[in-house]
Amino acid sequence: MRKILVAGNWKMNGSNAMARELAGAVASGFKPGSSVEMAVFPPFPYINIVAGAAADTELMFGAQDLNENPAGAHTGEVNAAMLVDLRCQMVLVGHSERRAMYADTDQRVADKFAAALAVGLVPVLCVGESLEEREAGETEAVIARQLDAVLEKSGIAGFANAVLAYEPVWAIGTGKTASPDQAQEIHAFIRDKLTALDGIIAGQLRILYGGSVKGSNAAELFAQTDIDGGLIGGASLTAEDFLSIYNAVA
Ligand code: 13P
Repeated sequence: MRKILVAGNWKMNGSNAMARELAGAVASGFKPGSSVEMAVFPPFPYINIVAGAAADTELMFGAQDLNENPAGAHTGEVNAAMLVDLRCQMVLVGHSERRAMYADTDQRVADKFAAALAVGLVPVLCVGESLEEREAGETEAVIARQLDAVLEKSGIAGFANAVLAYEPVWAIGTGKTASPDQAQEIHAFIRDKLTALDGIIAGQLRILYGGSVKGSNAAELFAQTDIDGGLIGGASLTAEDFLSIYNAVA
């Protein structure tokens, strides 16, 4: 049976109290015997609080970004070892907001992906096209380019311990979800591309869809052959909304 992952990216939202309450409520929402997993990605300052709320529960957690360097003179940055120290299991890499606003080039994303793998963190590699790129018919070329940078650095073997997230930029925070068919088409493209390199790794790779996922559309999206869960933004900010997505599939 396919394992579905429902992952919440809190983006730049939260407080001590919110992190404690939200992570606690999400962690207590697990249904016994369900194969659906949940993870949350709070801002750096709240990871420790989430770690406390998630202790002895099935809830996984991680950071929204990391620096690709091991240590040193990088004021304001956080490295992979620090995330392990905080007991993170995962880290988002190459979210479109970081690609667009914070100079995450394909190369830098590849370096971050490798830095995460090197310490045993599971990178959640985000890829996706802008509206302009989609309208120009460049969707597959953009995603192939984003994947190729990572493949060049870490090889297909790197994807054995990674998660992928297809997040079309035009669907993020817009309320405009890709249709299940639209999303499935790109997920299949991604899986086919990786299958050509290693069928086993590609077959086992979880490919999440992100972009305006909510309780009302999650089941239909996650029912697609190549959609193995979701990366949720806005609807991960309340336990009720986040658990409605989990409950739709668990
Ligand atoms: P929304 O669910 O708010 O569209 O955000 C998606 C996203 O960017 C998750 O990483």
